[in-house]
Order: sequence, then structure tokens, then C-alpha cells
Amino acid sequence: MWISVVGLGYLGAVHAASMAALGHRVVGVDVDEARVESLASGRAPFFEPGFDELLSQVGGTGRLSVTTETAAVEGAGVHFVCVGTPQRADGYAADLTYVELAVSGLVPHLAPGDVVVGKSTVPVGTAARLAAQVEAAGATLVWNPEFLREGFAVKDTLHPDRIVYGVPDGEAGVRAAGVLDEVYATPLSEGIAQVVTDYATAELVKVAANSFLATKISFINAMAELCEVAGGDVTRLADAIGFDERIGRKFLNAGLGFGGGCLPKDIRAFMARADELGAGEAVAFLGEVDEINTRRRHRMVELTGQVLDGEVTGKRVTVLGAAFKPNSDDVRDSPALDVAARLGEAGADVVVHDPQAIDNARRKAPALRYEPDLETALTGADAVLVLTEWQHYKDLDPHWAGDLVAQAHVLDGRNALDRDTWLTAGWTYRALGRR
Ligand code: UGA
Repeated sequence: MWISVVGLGYLGAVHAASMAALGHRVVGVDVDEARVESLASGRAPFFEPGFDELLSQVGGTGRLSVTTETAAVEGAGVHFVCVGTPQRADGYAADLTYVELAVSGLVPHLAPGDVVVGKSTVPVGTAARLAAQVEAAGATLVWNPEFLREGFAVKDTLHPDRIVYGVPDGEAGVRAAGVLDEVYATPLSEGIAQVVTDYATAELVKVAANSFLATKISFINAMAELCEVAGGDVTRLADAIGFDERIGRKFLNAGLGFGGGCLPKDIRAFMARADELGAGEAVAFLGEVDEINTRRRHRMVELTGQVLDGEVTGKRVTVLGAAFKPNSDDVRDSPALDVAARLGEAGADVVVHDPQAIDNARRKAPALRYEPDLETALTGADAVLVLTEWQHYKDLDPHWAGDLVAQAHVLDGRNALDRDTWLTAGWTYRALGRR
């Protein structure tokens, strides 16, 4: 099939290349010239495991082209909208500017029978509002939320755990779902679960899923707060409750909490939209989820102060990790970078290391000092904070690191290190939610 993809960020770029890998002819469009140039030359414009390989795989087929010209979508029969919906500067609601521009930009290039597929995360009601414009061009709008995780974007796109379509009532909806079935013929043939529903449900599925994940993380972090005051160990608690299959161990890793370009802004946008709909009370608990999440960052700063005898000013603090999670160079709402910045503001001499995210982090928090060499970053440290659980850091040899630092204090913000190994090597070990 001939497909267009508008918006080539983490979602759109991986989606475009994956669709080409599935055998479709794909044209990708983005306003960012540097991003388009990078993709056109077969280079990933961001760090995402497996994406470079995917680009070189599809590069040889000639099935993927990228451009800044929206008119290039003409002739494609299916048009994916993959642009961002960040938090608005003036409140919690989602900024829909890019989605609205993408759809109105597509409309003049649509042919009757085309299918426009929204993948961006939007407040419930958005698809119904945009459908009229698309229908006026003789096309049909489908909402097909995306569930990919950064760090696993290629796998999640090619082998998703479910495919959800929100379609309009009637013949047009049935036909559009059939067209999308052709696009996803390969994953569907693997027996992937499929839910075909209305627009509102499809939009809600996405924010409900992200809200659930955020709630699960904040739940275990609330238990971490209790463990801290009661003398418990949240990692053992998570293991124990996780054995109950109804609860499950996944997303019960206590620590610095959630960040990134999705969970934080999605729960806020959900609260804002529910308020507009007069149902704010139904998701008011998400405010508490957000608060618990932020409190963990304060606690990390507080703990660092405690370890450094109540005074961080002038102390060398090495922060390991700037990305919001491992296997990503994304620093949007990164808990690690936030803690580093707070410590810097409190007067600590902060040095940040990250295997992939230093360039993005420097743009976001230019006042901090960055060190790409781990050995140099550790040398002379009064405290070492592990704030993003890169494998690299989990594999650190505490004896080797101990010879480099000025004081052997480690703070494990992700409960990622083997406590006993570090203690045996002579370090003091502090972590969130553990004695
Ligand atoms: C999230 C969802 O997991 C995806 O399903 C969704 O498609 C995506 O948002 C989106 O809306 O586009 P992502 O933001 O890539 O994906 O990251 P997650 O893997 O969900 O992690 C989010 C944050 O939670 C990270 O900061 C991570 O460190 C933190 N986390 C995760 C914990 O603190 N504890 C855990 O147990 C798990």
C-alpha cells in the first residue's frame, strides 16, 4: 500500500520505517529540515535501539522517502498523523496545535476514499471534532492510538500487543477498518489482539493505559514513602505483591518515578479534559499520582543532603543518568535531570554523565556540567547518584569506582544496584524506599 506519515518524531519516524519494512511504500513528512535530512541519509535523528538497523534495512528497498513538503502525500491512500501533543504552557491541557495543523495540512491533498489515521495521544472528543474536515474531502478518519515505549519502539511497532481502531459509525467506518487491516496485515497475522470501537473509546484507551501505568508507579512509590518511615524495603514488598498475578511485578519499580514526553503530560491532560467534561472528580486521584511522583525528586535531593552531612554546597556530586529512562536519549521531564538541576541550584558542584543523552540534556539544562567519560565523571566525587538505570551503571564495579571517588557514598535512585556488593566494597548505600 502507499502510505504517508505526518510527523517524524520518536513515534512517526519509527512508524514510517516500520511500515516500509512491512512492505508498504511510505512517504514521511516533517517540518524539521534537520530531522528530514538525517532520515533521508539513513541516519536516526535520535537514539533508539534497533532504529539505525531498521533504517538501513528499508533504505535498500527504496520504499521509504522523507520530505518537508506536505504535497508529497498526494497519491497515498492512508495518511498517519503522528505529531506531538505536548502540555500547554498555560495549564494542564494538551496543546493540539500540531494535530490540527497536520490534519488541515493534509485535507487539500486527500482524495475520496482515503483514510486519515490519527496516532497522536489526544483528549477524548478530538477525533469527532476533526472528522468533519476529513469527511468533507471524501475521506474517513480513524483513531488508532499508539502504545510504543521508547527504547522498544521498533519491536512495539512491528509486534504490538494490541491494535485499537476508533471508527465512525456505518459503512465508512467498516471500510476504513478494512483498509487499516491491510496496512497491519502482517502483525494481525501473528494473532495480535484487535479492538475495533468508537472514537471516544479509542482515545480513552490510550490515556487510560498511560494513567494506569503512572498510577502503578506512584502506588509503589507511595509504599516506598511508608517503607522509609517504617523501616521496610520497598523492593521486597514489590516482589512479594508482584507474585499475585492480579497485581503483577511489572511497573512496580520504586525509585525516582516517571518522566518522559508521555506519562506526565498525559495524566495532566486527562485531568484537564475530564474537568471540561464535568467529570473532574473521576480522575482527581491523578493529581495525587502526580504529586507522589514529584515528591520522590524532592526526597532524592534531601537524601543527598543527609549523606553529605546536611550541606551540598560546594560538594562534588556525580549524577549518573540524564535520560528519563535507560535506552533513550530523551530528557523530556526527566526525573534524573530535574534532580541534577535542583542539586545544582542548591549549590552542589554537579557533574552529569549519560551514555546517550548528554547533548539533549545540555540544551535543556545548560547550567550543569556534563562529562562524557565515566571515569572522569566519577573522579573526586563526594556522592554518586544513580538516577537512570542504564545497564552500564548496573554493571559498574564498585571497587573500581571506589578508587576514583573522594567519598564512597552511593545513592541508588532507581533501586538498580546490588546493595550488598556495594556495601561489601566499602560504600555507604542509600536508596529510595529502603533502609
Ligand atoms: C509510555 C507507555 O509505557 C507507552 O505504552 C506509551 O505508548 C507511551 O508512554 C506514549 O504515550 O507514547 P514511555 O514514555 O516510552 O512509554 O516510557 P515508560 O517505559 O512507560 O516509562 C515511563 C517512566 O516511568 C520512565 O521515567 C520510567 O523510568 C518510569 N518507570 C517505569 C518507573 O519509575 N518505574 C517502573 O516500574 C516503570
